[in-house]
Amino acid sequence: MTPARRQTAPGTAVLSRKAVAAAVPVALAAVLAATTPASAGTVGAAGAGDPYFPLQGNGGYDVRHYDLRLGYDTSTGRLTARAVLSALATRRLGRFDLDLSGLKVTGVSVDHAKASFRRRGQELVVTPRHALHAGRRFQVTVDYQGKPGPVTDPDGSTDGWIPTDDGAFVANEPQGAMTWFPANSHPLDKALYDITITVPEGRTAVSGGVLVSRRTRGGHTTFHWRQSAPTAAYLVTATIGRFKVERYTTPDGLEVYNAVDPREAAAAAPVLRKLPSVLAWESARFGPYPFRAAGAVVDRAPQVGYALETQTRPLYDRAPDLATLVHESAHQWFGDSVTLTRWQDIWLNEGFATYAEWLYSEQHGGRTAQQAFDALYARPAGDDLWAYPPANPGSGARLFDTPVYARGAMALQRLRVTVGDATFLRVLRTWAQDHRHGHGTTDQFIRLSERLSGKKLDRLFHTWIGTAGKPAKP
Ligand code: TRP
Ligand code: ZN
Repeated sequence: MTPARRQTAPGTAVLSRKAVAAAVPVALAAVLAATTPASAGTVGAAGAGDPYFPLQGNGGYDVRHYDLRLGYDTSTGRLTARAVLSALATRRLGRFDLDLSGLKVTGVSVDHAKASFRRRGQELVVTPRHALHAGRRFQVTVDYQGKPGPVTDPDGSTDGWIPTDDGAFVANEPQGAMTWFPANSHPLDKALYDITITVPEGRTAVSGGVLVSRRTRGGHTTFHWRQSAPTAAYLVTATIGRFKVERYTTPDGLEVYNAVDPREAAAAAPVLRKLPSVLAWESARFGPYPFRAAGAVVDRAPQVGYALETQTRPLYDRAPDLATLVHESAHQWFGDSVTLTRWQDIWLNEGFATYAEWLYSEQHGGRTAQQAFDALYARPAGDDLWAYPPANPGSGARLFDTPVYARGAMALQRLRVTVGDATFLRVLRTWAQDHRHGHGTTDQFIRLSERLSGKKLDRLFHTWIGTAGKPAKP
């Protein structure tokens, strides 16, 4: 599902293949050249044009819906799966790519006709029997199987399908989706999802959205999850384990589903109990919660080392503390509903979610946001905090570093102090509302802040998110 906005966001439009070749490193140009036959006029690009992850996503089509049917054998770690993608060709397509890494593909069809395919690194290259004309809706079915495993990111962390002692912890940011399903795996292309997961009886399989059905037969249980709001592939999960499940509906009508590893249950309970009040507090500041469903997956996977804001149902590698719960919940507005168009803009996710922690603390008897700012500002000029600009970290290896989180939040505190509390909150709320279930760019955020405050803010943002080095005392 591609929002119309995509076309208008500066620097974020789906680039033509030529523009991609001009904008990205030589390595990608080489890949594109190598995969481009003489009939280049009908070939979908191998990437979406994001310099941080050049092969992520693909060009030439737009996915509307994923229907993923997964069977996972927790004793062998084998996955047997079928993915059905409903998509729209955005140009004439004689051939197109999906992102899929590892696993064995046993068959591909396009609109029920067998298609030919080959693997080239993380690209699954599909040639339908007949070219698809621009504007045509089509379905791709991919049958695949194997033992999925994680991908190692440029920063050394792992994401994707991460096996655990009782199942798998499945976290896709920024690259992991391709380790377990074929996709147009760039955040530009959001889609709806139906995910059906069959696991041995006694295990629970959790994804985003609402649980449509749960059936046990012949020693296996099948969970059918439906995500009916547009979702980026990096925010999808299929986490499996032995979980204690808790379900309830909040006074606001949200369907909550919590799945908790029993070994983490005692530590998680007092924090999870606060989820409805955290979401209500955030809704009062950021505008209505963007989804119908909510909840948490609390696994025991300490080797992962991070939590993830999977859409509607964040994923924790251990019992979270309250600040982490507030952080992942805030991402539901900032990152999940309003999604970045290129990874360089990651501060729109992490700076905002960090700021939500500061504001929550301030309004619950803890340290104020200004105190958090001051404590960080006291760090010496040589500190990592000032090493690079939050709005231009420079590579995929730095997406989750201190400048993005902490200095990103500091920029928002400078904005608040400059425009006043009321206008600041109006900016956040308008941002969440205007880009709801869509995308947003740093430029758009700056323009919105200027429009609502009536102030020129280029300098402020340049200083706090656009330059490296410690800014002069404000
Ligand atoms: N986005 C996560 C958060 O809420 C952090 C995260 C996701 C992460 N994937 C990661 C951190 C990979 C380090 C490495 O902050
Ligand atoms: Zn975060």
